[in-house]
Amino acid sequence: MRSHRVLIIGVGSIGERHLRCCQATGRAEVRLVEINPDLRQTIAERYGVSKAYEDLSEALHDPPDAAVVATPAPAHVSLATQLAEAGVSVLIEKPLSTSLEGVDRLREVVRARGVVAGVAYVYRCHPLLRAMRQAIGQGQFGRPVELIAVAGQHFPTYRPAYRSIYYNRRETGGGAIQDALTHVLNAAEWLVGPIDRLVADAAHQVLEGVTVEDTAHLLARHATVLASYSLNQHQPPNELTITVVCERGAARCEFHAHRWRWMTTPGDDWHDEPLPPLERDELFTAQAHAFLDAVEGQRPVACTLDEGLQSLRVNLAALESLATQGWRQIGG
Ligand SMILES: NC(=O)c1ccc[n+]([C@@H]2O[C@H](COP(=O)([O-])OP(=O)(O)OC[C@H]3O[C@@H](n4cnc5c(N)ncnc54)[C@H](O)[C@@H]3O)[C@@H](O)[C@H]2O)c1
Repeated sequence: MRSHRVLIIGVGSIGERHLRCCQATGRAEVRLVEINPDLRQTIAERYGVSKAYEDLSEALHDPPDAAVVATPAPAHVSLATQLAEAGVSVLIEKPLSTSLEGVDRLREVVRARGVVAGVAYVYRCHPLLRAMRQAIGQGQFGRPVELIAVAGQHFPTYRPAYRSIYYNRRETGGGAIQDALTHVLNAAEWLVGPIDRLVADAAHQVLEGVTVEDTAHLLARHATVLASYSLNQHQPPNELTITVVCERGAARCEFHAHRWRWMTTPGDDWHDEPLPPLERDELFTAQAHAFLDAVEGQRPVACTLDEGLQSLRVNLAALESLATQGWRQIGG
C-alpha cells in the first residue's frame, strides 16, 4: 500500500480529527501546520508527529503529496491555492469560503497543476446516505419530486467553545447557515441535484453569548424538485432526517436512528435498511480513504471543488435572501 505525505493545516477541533483519521488509514505519513504554538506542540506530541510547522511556507520546503485545510473558512481559499501551486492535492474543510474571492483563481491553479481538489462535505462518505442515494439513482422509487430535511442539535453540548471560535461571526464562517445547514444542503444537492433558487428565514433564538442565527428555515428549488429545510442548533434531540419523495415511493435517511427506510405502497410499513451505529472517527476515516483513493486516481473525489463552490453560492444566496427578504437565484 502506498504511503502518502499528508499535511494537516490547522489542528484545532476538526483538524485534530482529520490528523487522527488520516493516521488511522495506515496510508499516510502525517505532518502539521498550526499557528498556535502550544497547540502545535500538544498535537505533535499526542500523535507522534515529528514535522510540525508554524506556517505553510515553511512546510512547503519539503512538499507533501496531499493536504487537508482545516483552518476557519476565510483562509481556506488562499491556503488551498498556495498548496495547489506547489503541486499538492487538497481536501478543504467546509464551507469552501465565506465569499467568492479567489475561488476562480484556485480553480485555474487546480486545473493547471492537475492536482486533486475536494471539499470535505463528510456526509458524502456516510454509508446510509450513500446507500439511499444509490437506490434513488437506480430509479427504485421513480423520479424525485420533493425533498424535506429536518435537523437539530444542541450545539453547546458538542462544541462548548462555540462563543469564542469561528462560529461567533458570519464573517468567519459562523451561524447556522454556513456552519451546519450547509452540510444538509450539500447532501441534498448530492441526492437530487443543484439548487437553482431559494428563500431563507433565520434568527438568533436561543444560544447564549452569540448573535448569529441559530435557527434557519429554507425553501429551495433543485430544478423540478421542491425542497424545504429546517435546522436549529439548540434542541436537546440530536437528529437529522432527509426524506426524498419520488413519483412511486418515498425514501428517508434517519442518521440518528442508524437507518434509511423506504415505502412504495400506501398503508404499508416502512422497509428499514439499518446499519450499525457509526462513530464520528469512522466517518472521517472513510473520508480520508476516499481522498487518498482520489489522489491515487482510483475514484473521483467525493465532493468536487465545483460542487463545493455550488454549495458556497447556496450559502451566500441564503444570507442574501435574509438581507433582502426575497427569493434568490443561484449564480444569477
Ligand atoms: N466537517 C465537520 O463536521 C466540521 C466540524 C467542525 C468544523 N468544521 C470546519 O472546519 C474548519 C475549522 O473548524 P474548527 O472547529 O476546527 O476550528 P478551530 O478554531 O477549532 O481550529 C482552527 C485551527 O486553525 C488554526 N489556524 C488558523 N489559521 C491558520 C493558518 N493560517 N495556518 C495554520 N493554522 C491556522 C487555528 O490556530 C486553530 O487551531 C471550519 O471551516 C469549520 O467550518 C467542519
